[in-house]
Amino acid sequence: LVMTKVTVVGSGNWGSVAAKLIASNTLLLTNFNDEVKMWVFEETLPGGEKLTEVINQTNENVKYLPGIKLGKNVIADPNLENAVKDADMLVFVSPHQFMEGICKLLVGKIKAGAEGLSLIKGMEVKKEGPCMISTLISNQLGINCSVLMGANIANEIAMEKFSEATVGYSQHKEVADKWVQLFTTPYFIVTAVNDVEGVELCGTLKNIVAIAAGFVDGLEMGNNTKAAIMRLGLKEMMAFSKLLFPSVKDSTFFESCGVADLITTCMGGRNRKVAEAYARNGGKRSFEELEEELLKGQKLQVPK
Ligand code: NAD
Ligand code: 13P
Repeated sequence: LVMTKVTVVGSGNWGSVAAKLIASNTLLLTNFNDEVKMWVFEETLPGGEKLTEVINQTNENVKYLPGIKLGKNVIADPNLENAVKDADMLVFVSPHQFMEGICKLLVGKIKAGAEGLSLIKGMEVKKEGPCMISTLISNQLGINCSVLMGANIANEIAMEKFSEATVGYSQHKEVADKWVQLFTTPYFIVTAVNDVEGVELCGTLKNIVAIAAGFVDGLEMGNNTKAAIMRLGLKEMMAFSKLLFPSVKDSTFFESCGVADLITTCMGGRNRKVAEAYARNGGKRSFEELEEELLKGQKLQVPK
């Protein structure tokens, strides 16, 4: 039996929860190696310790997911090349701003035939047009890349509260099924759809609507206005997605990655939070300043 090895590239709030979900499953599934490697962008904590060492000693990401045990089979590694070299399945979950740089470092370091999965909600906007993060990964690393998006506020999943997610794939249903198997738990239900662009665009574009939802909250315009912003936002997401990729399916917007993620982000996401503070301060404090103060090292979901 060939044992599949999994590495998570990224260890922020969602990266840590993804590692926890996967690690609970690799222990149960006989076709996966128990150990899950997690690449950590090394940081020195205020006490002088290295984040990676603390994660491996305490089994907790004390900076980005404090109070939650990741599973003893999650091994943090600050060396990117070492973390990915044996992996058959690579989960990418860094803030989108860093992915181009990470991909450059990974060229030629990935095992032939490895499969990628992007959990990253964002896109690169270049002069020649927008580039989806899964496409960036695919093109730069020469691997197939599926996506997983959904109504998935990481801290809630960390506490094992129920949610759903959507895997988007382009060709190989059997690969999508393996990702579904790796992530599904009784509290995390994953469905695969054959529409990688649609799923990824849902996860990306809802972040813009969330800024508008935050403004509505900051200006105290009420629930009806916020619901209108969500409805109109969803329609615009659909129109914009189809403009970019005519193949995008209407049904994708009714999966977890679509309407459900839009709702949860407009209720509890970080773009909403920072945009609310921006509006409450009458625009006198910058988004950068509020990001620093309110998100504690996490990244606002905006173009770089
Ligand atoms: P985060 O916002 O917690 O990001 C912080 C991470 O960025 C840390 O691991 C930090 O070490 C790393 N970092 C900082 N500077 C870096 C650099 N120069 N190079 C590389 N890495 C650096 O991250 P997150 O919440 O895990 O989000 C990652 C992706 O997952 C995003 O695209 C987000 O949209 C998506 N997502 C997040 C959630 C959530 O609830 N947090 C849920 C679903 C999807
Ligand atoms: P924020 O990135 O807005 O915090 O929300 C996380 C998310 O993607 C919810 O699905």
